[in-house]
Amino acid sequence: MDALEAITQRVSIAQLTGPDVSDEQKTILAQAAMRAPDHAWMRPSRYLTIEGDARARLGQIFYEAQSAGKQLPDEKRQKMQGMLLRAPLVIVGITRVSEHPKVPRDEQILSTGAGIQNMLIAAHALGLGAIWRTGDMAHCQGVRAALGLADNEEIVGFLYVGHPNTSAKSVPVIDDPEFFTAWA
Ligand SMILES: Cc1cc2nc3c(=O)[nH]c(=O)nc-3n(C[C@H](O)[C@H](O)[C@H](O)COP(=O)(O)O)c2cc1C
Repeated sequence: MDALEAITQRVSIAQLTGPDVSDEQKTILAQAAMRAPDHAWMRPSRYLTIEGDARARLGQIFYEAQSAGKQLPDEKRQKMQGMLLRAPLVIVGITRVSEHPKVPRDEQILSTGAGIQNMLIAAHALGLGAIWRTGDMAHCQGVRAALGLADNEEIVGFLYVGHPNTSAKSVPVIDDPEFFTAWA
C-alpha cells in the first residue's frame, strides 16, 4: 500500500478478531514503532505484547483493580475480564520518563504516542485493524505493578490489533476552515 494512502485512509477499527497477528507482522509493527521521532535519542519508549492466555490473566487483574476487593455486578466483572479479549494482540505503549535538560516529560510521552501512531498506520498497511485505547486501567496502580512498570514509567496506550471483523467506517471529512491555515 502506498504510504500516503495508508496515512490518509486509516481509520480505527474496534471490532477485531483472529487469527493471531503473525511474527512477521509483529516485527513490522515493532519496526514502525522504532521509527518514532525521539528528541535527543533518549529511547524513552518500550512496548509489551499481550496475547493468548495472557489477555485473560491481565483482564482478571483489570477486574481486581476495578473492584478493589468489592463484589461488582456480573456485567461489570465480565466487561473487565473480557476487555483484552477484544483483539488477538494488545500492545502496551510505555514511556520511561527521565530527567533531561532539553527534553521535557511531555516530549518523551509524545514520542511513544508517535510510535503508537506509526503502528496504527503500519497495521492498516498490513491489512490489519487497530485501535488506540487508554481508560482508567492505563493509570491504575495494580495494573502498573502487574505489568512491571517502574515508578518513572507511564502507560501511553493499549493498542488493540487484529483482523477487522467489520467493514471499516468511511474516513471522516473534517470541514474546519481553521484546521490548517497559513499564519500571516
Ligand atoms: C491517547 C488516546 C486515547 C484514546 N483512548 C480511547 C479509549 O480508551 N477508548 C476509545 O474508544 N477510543 C479511544 N481513543 C480514540 C480512538 O483511538 C480513535 O482515535 C477514535 O475512535 C477515532 O477513530 P479514528 O482513529 O478512526 O478517527 C483514544 C485516542 C487517543 C489518541
